Amino acid sequence: MHVVGAADVGIRSLLQEPPCHAFRVPETHFDEWIAQRYETLWPELFDPAVVEPAVNFLADLAGAGPALELGIGTGRVALPLSARGVRVHGIELSPAMVARLKAQPGASDIGVTLGDFATAVVGGTFTLAYLVRNTITNLTTQGEQVACFHNVAAHLDPGGRFVIENYIPELQRLPPGETIHVFTATPTHVGLEEYDVATQIAFSHHYWMIDSTLKTFSSPHRYVWPSELDLMARLAGMTLRERWSDWNRAPFTSESRNHISVWEKVL
Ligand SMILES: C[S@@+](CC[C@H](N)C(=O)[O-])C[C@H]1O[C@@H](n2cnc3c(N)ncnc32)[C@H](O)[C@@H]1O
Repeated sequence: MHVVGAADVGIRSLLQEPPCHAFRVPETHFDEWIAQRYETLWPELFDPAVVEPAVNFLADLAGAGPALELGIGTGRVALPLSARGVRVHGIELSPAMVARLKAQPGASDIGVTLGDFATAVVGGTFTLAYLVRNTITNLTTQGEQVACFHNVAAHLDPGGRFVIENYIPELQRLPPGETIHVFTATPTHVGLEEYDVATQIAFSHHYWMIDSTLKTFSSPHRYVWPSELDLMARLAGMTLRERWSDWNRAPFTSESRNHISVWEKVL
């Protein structure tokens, strides 16, 4: 992880936030217990119908590469992308998630920098950077999210692309006065999103029944609309090229629950 540089100081003064608030070291919620069970807890993420279109989409954009994954986790996307011949490097905060990645076949082809993807510095530049599965919301202040866009721009070649997969905040689904949206409910997994509109923070609460034992997990997220991400991209010298509602390039509409956005670093 690097110390705050001149570009960061510019962002900070722009946002008028105290340095220690905008640039604190984020804590990881992906501990050893989660890392060991990531595939069991979120099996839908490993469905080939989910992974393959994402890998196709990213491989097309990476071209000759290399590609940088922010929050690489256990390599759910990085490993198949690397197997397609794209050189992949990752940034990851959780040593436990990296250990799971490194235990898998093909991992020796993937380099990982341990650190915060809003500030970590990786040697070299990339044709593609990507941040999937709502992971931009793990940065819980606007300052950190803006810093992330600047950090990505610093790592991209001119004309390089930045891809984010993120959900559309579900505020339209909240009855007036209510704060909780149930986003999944199965016999073994209930997930609730608890919104605080004043702070633009949503807590995700998960309840799993695993081997007849209840396991709970909660994490804070700064939810964010595509338009705010576009402004962050513009502040970092990137412009929007594409926006879809899924990896198969379904059109993005008012009904879309997710978006795949692609920004390009201006030459
Ligand atoms: C939802 S998981 C996604 C992992 C992987 N990208 C995937 O698609 O399966 C989010 C990952 O981002 C990591 N992460 C969260 N905030 C981070 C940060 N500020 N810097 C680096 N990694 C971070 C977490 O530790 C976790 O491994």
